[in-house]
Amino acid sequence: MNIFITRVIPEVGLQLLQDAGFTVKQWTEKRKLTTEELISECQWADALLNAGQQLNKEFLEASSHLKVIALNSVGYDNVDIETASRLKIPVGNTPGVLSGATADTAFLLMMAAARNAFFMHKTIINGEWDFFEPTVNLGKELTGGTLGVFGLGKIGIEMAKRCAGAFGMKIIYHNRQRDEAAEKELGAVYVSFEELLKESDVISVHTALTPETEGKFNAEVFKQMKPSAIFVNTARGKIHNEQDLISALQHKVIWGAGLDVTNPEPMQPGNPLLSMPNVAVLPHIGSATETTRDAMAKLAAENIIAGLKGEQLPFVVNPEVYG
Ligand code: DGY
Repeated sequence: MNIFITRVIPEVGLQLLQDAGFTVKQWTEKRKLTTEELISECQWADALLNAGQQLNKEFLEASSHLKVIALNSVGYDNVDIETASRLKIPVGNTPGVLSGATADTAFLLMMAAARNAFFMHKTIINGEWDFFEPTVNLGKELTGGTLGVFGLGKIGIEMAKRCAGAFGMKIIYHNRQRDEAAEKELGAVYVSFEELLKESDVISVHTALTPETEGKFNAEVFKQMKPSAIFVNTARGKIHNEQDLISALQHKVIWGAGLDVTNPEPMQPGNPLLSMPNVAVLPHIGSATETTRDAMAKLAAENIIAGLKGEQLPFVVNPEVYG
């Protein structure tokens, strides 16, 4: 059986698929496929291992013969799940294995924003290491502050652990539902969204992108945060309104921001966020460590193997296909 892979994935994933006796084709060009190209490549395939492509209704309806789609990501906002389920195509993702690496990235961005770190590094590269003055280049200390987690799932919990351990931060969170196990483990306190905004020194976003969370962090919301607050987003860029974020930072409505995800991606080099001292931006590298990317490729391959054997995927996002 044949598998089409939309990006070059770590060897461990390829090996698993080849050892299972499947024929694999990887897209090696450094650009996304068009929907037409993807449809055409998948005509040959029994399964698709997808990284980074939008899988819309048009694609899915033209590829309804696929026995399984495995995503090389935990997020599945790029797939029309309703259509996949209607067509009875199981879709798998990679939860859990990237939680630590993504939380590390959120922690890094929080620190970098708090201490103007990326901007200061740029000044050195530009030959602008300035006269030492006790009153300039001042950042924020995080010790004893409050971390507000928006979306306390696996990644949010890892971020909370890091902040509590490193800085003794108090943890508050807002979810659709309370998570009493996490409350016990972390001493986290459930609060309303309004309280989260009012009380947090750092707000870190770890929720999925859904119609409910799209554009959630907008001008009105930034206004309710502390003027000293740092906004961190390692989830999806569309959860914040980027123009409103730029304006909130320019007008000192909030203090700083750390972003691993932007809207749109890639961020354009002239974006004002890139020249603000108290803003740190990374190019969506949350899960980008060797260990984590290997683990993701392995899970994606395991989802494909199960799907092609006609078994339930170990990590399926639309279990209704088995109903
Ligand atoms: C994920 O796994 O969802 C990462 O953000 C990569 O898209």
